[in-house]
Amino acid sequence: MKAELEQIRKEAEQALARIDNLQDLSNFRVEYLGKKGKLTQILRGMGKLSAEERPQIGQLANQIRAYLEEEIEKKRKVLEEEALNQRLRDEVIDVTMPGRRHYRGKLHPLNIVLNEIKDIFLGMGFEIAEGPEVEWDYYNFEALNIPKNHPARDTQDTFYITENILLRTHTSPTQIRVMERQKPPIKIIVPGRVYRSDAVDATHSPIFHQVEGLVIDRNITMGDLKGVLDVFAKEMFGPQTRTQFRPHHFPFTEPSAEMDVSCTTCGGKGCRVCSYTGWIEILGAGMVHPKVLKHGGIDPEKYSGFAFGMGLDRITNLKYGIDDIRLLFENDIRFLEQF
Ligand code: PHE
Repeated sequence: MKAELEQIRKEAEQALARIDNLQDLSNFRVEYLGKKGKLTQILRGMGKLSAEERPQIGQLANQIRAYLEEEIEKKRKVLEEEALNQRLRDEVIDVTMPGRRHYRGKLHPLNIVLNEIKDIFLGMGFEIAEGPEVEWDYYNFEALNIPKNHPARDTQDTFYITENILLRTHTSPTQIRVMERQKPPIKIIVPGRVYRSDAVDATHSPIFHQVEGLVIDRNITMGDLKGVLDVFAKEMFGPQTRTQFRPHHFPFTEPSAEMDVSCTTCGGKGCRVCSYTGWIEILGAGMVHPKVLKHGGIDPEKYSGFAFGMGLDRITNLKYGIDDIRLLFENDIRFLEQF
């Protein structure tokens, strides 16, 4: 039995030397000193020993137990310290390391300019309305006094979903939608995306943006139209800006006009940007046609109004000196970062 004990001690010493982690150490303790451990197993057999052998073996067994416990404890300390050092090494934070930069998003230039436009009109008491981009032929054309076969349809060719449903070619259909649900006074702007079947180049895109305006009340005149749009131009492009109105034709306004602003680059002297005319066209406008008021359920004998429509992309390009509309849609970060 004594030899057995010595054997266990030797075996245990060897096993212990190989242990390199706390889990194995805990298993080792169970294996040798646990209730069913190797040492305990041997001591169970002590009953068979003679009276004088028993204390000797007992003493030896206790020595081995004490020895192993001590060794286990030593090993535990070493392993714990190693584990701690490892963690300290792994979790070290170099506070001198440069931070990782988080990029902040920015507003798209179209939205920056749209926000300015909204601010200007909200300041004059307008409200903001919206309408669908997928629109009935009725609202986009018919109700705006553009019947089938009208030549104005050629300049606003678009994408048809069915014969009667299309992608709107302008924001004007929302004029009718608002008139149908709201009695005068009406004073709204309608920002939105519009579509035309145009080939892409520096000045054309099949998708672009407009801001429509509509004012209807008693006694609204062309003077109101000119006053509001002149204020808008000065707020948008600076107080030195001059405006001029040229006669034009739209089926849904009568009379109709286009408004020019004095060139935002040369101030009116003439340069490449304004094709040496000193003026830049920024919107179409006019007095709402009586037929259009009727289509919207408004009595043209009682009420009158004006409407206008401006190209947001064009105004954005003017504001920032951008010479190619495609830049607004490509979403190249190098371009967008500049605003
Ligand atoms: N809807 C016209 C266009 O797209 C612009 C416009 C709007 C003209 C309102 C007059 C009145 O060209």
